[in-house]
Amino acid sequence: MNTHIPEDYTPRADLLAGRTILVTGAGDGIGRAVSSAFAAHGATVILLGRTTPKLEAVYDEIVSAGGPQPAIYPMDLEGATPDDHRQLAENIASQLGRLDGLLHNAGLLGSLAPIAHYDPVEWLRVVQVNLNAPFLLTQSCLPLLERAPEASIVFTSSGVGRRGRAYWGAYGASKFGVEGLMQILADELEENSAVRVNSLNPGRVRTAMRAAAYPAENPASLLTPAEIVTPYLYLMGPDSVGVHGRALDAQ
Ligand SMILES: NC(=O)c1ccc[n+]([C@@H]2O[C@H](COP(=O)([O-])OP(=O)(O)OC[C@H]3O[C@@H](n4cnc5c(N)ncnc54)[C@H](OP(=O)(O)O)[C@@H]3O)[C@@H](O)[C@H]2O)c1
Repeated sequence: MNTHIPEDYTPRADLLAGRTILVTGAGDGIGRAVSSAFAAHGATVILLGRTTPKLEAVYDEIVSAGGPQPAIYPMDLEGATPDDHRQLAENIASQLGRLDGLLHNAGLLGSLAPIAHYDPVEWLRVVQVNLNAPFLLTQSCLPLLERAPEASIVFTSSGVGRRGRAYWGAYGASKFGVEGLMQILADELEENSAVRVNSLNPGRVRTAMRAAAYPAENPASLLTPAEIVTPYLYLMGPDSVGVHGRALDAQ
């Protein structure tokens, strides 16, 4: 069953104080707004993405707003090897000493095309970024997350990852895979771990990806990334302890 966060939830100012959170795709769209919101609520944010100037812009935004100094981690999730993911976890352990949260936000839309004509090479690229990278990153970061008192992993889903829709191809299939990965991991961690794992569907949000998928849509009809950060704060902070294995909706 899909669920929402508590209706009148208001995150307190220091909700994430002392926590270190890794956000993928932190340079643009939802990842950018959520990274800034995490920092505004006290978190040290590791900004991971493939375009360094975009990450630097988010870094500057956080620092000039008076947030804890973030870290920038340029990494292309399409080409990253298992060794790159292991190295990332080692760097976090040696330089920051802890990891309390992992937000799998980076995503690649790919083409909207019928399965009969979907470009196989593009299929592999999209699945690599949207599903294989979250698996590799989760696996490498899990030992660090296990050491945190109440760590949270959030996978980013989509409406088309919960109900199949024509032409959504590799994107839709990869989001179904993300839901499956979340459920399998949640079941594995149910009994013997304090790490909680959930998926979140942001809903329709005014970003470059949304505009690419729906070019005729009026962007003014959509919520901005900054308007949907509250469910992300809820899932990363202590108020969601006990929420585990759920497929949540941000809107
Ligand atoms: N917007 C919506 O309406 C909507 C609806 C449902 C689900 N979602 C999901 O929400 C998440 C964020 O989407 P968004 O709308 O904010 O999209 P966006 O504006 O296109 O941002 C996606 C981010 O992912 C990064 N990224 C893409 N490929 C990458 C790679 N190979 N390595 C590292 N980073 C990579 C991008 O980096 P660059 O900036 O360098 O390109 C960008 O920062 C995605 O998982 C998406 O599927 C969005």
